[in-house]
Amino acid sequence: MTVDIKWAELGFEYMNLPYRWRAYWKDGEWYKSGLETENTIQIEEGAPILHYGQGAFEGLKAFKTKEGDIQIFRPDQNAKRLNASAARLVMPEVPEEDFIHAVKEVVKANAEYVPPYGTGASFYLRPTLIGVGDNIGVHAAKEYIFTVFAMPVGPYFKGGMVPTAFTTSEFDRAAPHGTGAAKVGGNYAGSLQPGIEAREKGYSDVVYLDPATHTKIEEVGSANFFGIEKDTNKFVTPKSPSILPSITKYSLLWLAQHRLGLEVEEGDVYIDDLDRFSEAGACGTAAVISPVSFITHNDHKHVFYSETEVGPITKKLYDELVGIQNGDVEAPEGWIVKV
Ligand code: PLP
Ligand code: COI
Repeated sequence: MTVDIKWAELGFEYMNLPYRWRAYWKDGEWYKSGLETENTIQIEEGAPILHYGQGAFEGLKAFKTKEGDIQIFRPDQNAKRLNASAARLVMPEVPEEDFIHAVKEVVKANAEYVPPYGTGASFYLRPTLIGVGDNIGVHAAKEYIFTVFAMPVGPYFKGGMVPTAFTTSEFDRAAPHGTGAAKVGGNYAGSLQPGIEAREKGYSDVVYLDPATHTKIEEVGSANFFGIEKDTNKFVTPKSPSILPSITKYSLLWLAQHRLGLEVEEGDVYIDDLDRFSEAGACGTAAVISPVSFITHNDHKHVFYSETEVGPITKKLYDELVGIQNGDVEAPEGWIVKV
C-alpha cells in the first residue's frame, strides 16, 4: 500500500497513523502489551498524570535508507533516558528491550508512513509513560500506561537547516534542582508562555538561562545549544544539571571529536561572552541542527556566523549526523538499529 503524502512539505504536525503500541502496568508488572488502533486513551479522572503531571516522554526517529531499509537512530539511549525520567517521577521502568521492541513494532506496522529516502522528512516516534488509576492525594500512581505513537515529520524549526534566531527570557523552564534533566511535561507546560512571547517578537523560541544566576546559557525550549569557538574551532556545549541530556548533542560531541578532529568541551557558556563563538546551533531529535543566526539578550543582538548563511563546521556536523541517520555515512557501533 502506498500513502498519498507530500513528504517534502511536511512540518512538525500530528498525524493519526493506523497503529500505536500500548503496555499496561499494575501490581508490579507489565501485564498486557501490543499494537492498538485507537488514538484515544481512556483514563480515570483522578489519574496522577492529569493533576500532578506524573508522566514522561521521549522522541526518536526512524529513517529510510537509499536501499529502502528502515533504521532507527540510537533507541537504546531513549530507553535509558525514559527510565531516568521515570525514576525521577517514581514511575516503573520500561525494560530497554521492551522499549526497543515497541518502537520497532510501531515502525513495522506503519511502515508505509516512513518517508522515502531523500525527501528530507523522517519518521518521529513519541514513547510516553503516564501514571493512571484512581487517585486524589499527591502520591505515585498505582497503575501506568506506556504508549508509543508515531508520524512522518518535516523540520521542527521553519526551513530546517537555515539560520534561526532565539531570545533570552525572564522566565525559566526548570528549577536549579528540579526536573530540568528529565523529559517531563511540566518543563514544557512552563515553556509555553515564554515561547509564545518569543514567537510574537519574531524569534523561533527562547534560549533559557541558568535558573540560579541567569548568566549562563542552558538550552532552547526544545533543543540543546552548542557553539564553535573562534580560532580553536572547539565544540562547546553547556553543562548543567537542569538541562535535558540531549542524545543528538552527545552524538555531535562524539562526531566533532572523532570524525571532525575537534576539541570538545561541556562547560559554562556565559550569555555575556558570546563573542568567543564563530558559529552556534540548536540540536535535538526534532530540531536536528538548526543553525543559530543570532541571540537577543537585554536588547543586545549577538550575531554568530551570519543571519542567512550556515557556518562550515555546523554544516559538516549536520552532514555527518544526517548521513549516519540516512545510512549514507558509516555509523559508530551501536548507533543504528535496523527494523
Ligand atoms: N532539550 C529539550 C528541552 C528537548 O525537548 C529536546 C528534545 O528531545 C532536546 C533538548 C534534544 O534532545 P534529543 O537530542 O535527545 O532529542
Ligand atoms: C524532540 O526533539 O524529540 C522533542 O521532544 C522536542 C520537542 C518536540 C518537544
